[in-house]
Amino acid sequence: MYQERVLSGMRPTGRLHLGHYHGVLKNWVKLQAEFPCLFFVADWHALTTDYDSPGEIEDAAWDMIIDWLAAGVDPGQATLFIQSRVPEHAELFLLLSMMAPLGWLERVPTYKDQQEKLSHKDLSTYGFLGYPLLQSADILIYRADKVPVGEDQVPHIEFTREVARRFNHLYGREPGFEDKAREAVKKLGAKRARLYEELRTRFQQEGDREALEQGHALLNDSQSLSMGDRERLFGFLEGSSKMILVEPDSLLTEASRMPGLDGQKMSKSYNNTISLREDAESITKKIRTMQTDPQRVRRSDPGDPAKCPVWQLHAIYSDDSTRDWVQKGCRSAGIGCIECKQPVIQAVLAEQEPMRERAQIYLDDPSLVRNIVADGCERARKLAQETMRDVREAMGLDYN
Ligand code: TRP
Ligand code: SF4
Repeated sequence: MYQERVLSGMRPTGRLHLGHYHGVLKNWVKLQAEFPCLFFVADWHALTTDYDSPGEIEDAAWDMIIDWLAAGVDPGQATLFIQSRVPEHAELFLLLSMMAPLGWLERVPTYKDQQEKLSHKDLSTYGFLGYPLLQSADILIYRADKVPVGEDQVPHIEFTREVARRFNHLYGREPGFEDKAREAVKKLGAKRARLYEELRTRFQQEGDREALEQGHALLNDSQSLSMGDRERLFGFLEGSSKMILVEPDSLLTEASRMPGLDGQKMSKSYNNTISLREDAESITKKIRTMQTDPQRVRRSDPGDPAKCPVWQLHAIYSDDSTRDWVQKGCRSAGIGCIECKQPVIQAVLAEQEPMRERAQIYLDDPSLVRNIVADGCERARKLAQETMRDVREAMGLDYN
């Protein structure tokens, strides 16, 4: 029941760039081959900050999905969907809002940070305060245990774990739970039961997370348990009673070292990006006119790659022998900067070629993208509805 599952979302900010590709999408492509994955467009999250200009969100969402597909995200392996097309997220968000302490939300570090950073916008809204809770609903509704995110999002995953724990604590009770759990332990068989007890003690007394994971693995392997007993034992292990929502872990994505055209981090707000699927001419021109070591004014001046943003691109795109050629040629003024940039231009163009080809198929026939997303939404919805059944029941909203 609690199988491994990856979930991640991205706000639709329009066309993606090489920073997104190297920082996020390459990782998604890797993960989709290893685990069941769900990737979604967080369009409601976009509205929390862009509620005054909602008209751009939809186009940005389709463009972004084409970028995902172009980068190699495979709808045959991963489920791709749009948040607002799975309205169960909103229902879970609402129910969680009943029990999410205001103080927890106010203390999430991104809350004040973003308000300050986006000070030109009025973000003293209910929706913006709820941003991390909506994110929790996104994750918990799929019982996803792995959430690939960048460092800035780690507090949101931490927050989500606390929400799940509190939820299970408040609503995971059933009459006679303890007795039923002890009966279920016996059904594991003597040897496994002893191991289970040992892991449970280690987690509850020492907070040993490895013991918790071993316990989960043990339960997943115990085929003889009924669904109900398995759930009880998951909860009993954790010290809550029944585990209805699963606490996720973040899969920290290494910060992208992708430098922008000026050597700062590549970012739309610095206007230093190369987009995915940018045309070849424009890419060539951007790299040709990129800044180099400012000390190297004339062709005959020696330079220092360490002071040059082009070198950072070589670090990502070039092999050892090319890098060696750059180091020597630059320091001795043996090569010119345009010459030095040529292998980088080639490498970026080569990287984008298959992306442009893949994207073209979807640009020629947009119904393909619509269908992929419709399928994904349907699959996601089924999973979400299963969780919501349990959540409603736990919160006394069964009405059967
Ligand atoms: N807040 C995330 C970001 O800005 C986007 C997001 C929304 C998300 N819901 C999520 C990421 C759930 C992971 C899981 O990048
Ligand atoms: Fe930069 Fe290459 Fe020019 Fe040296 S030769 S300054 S590394 S672009």
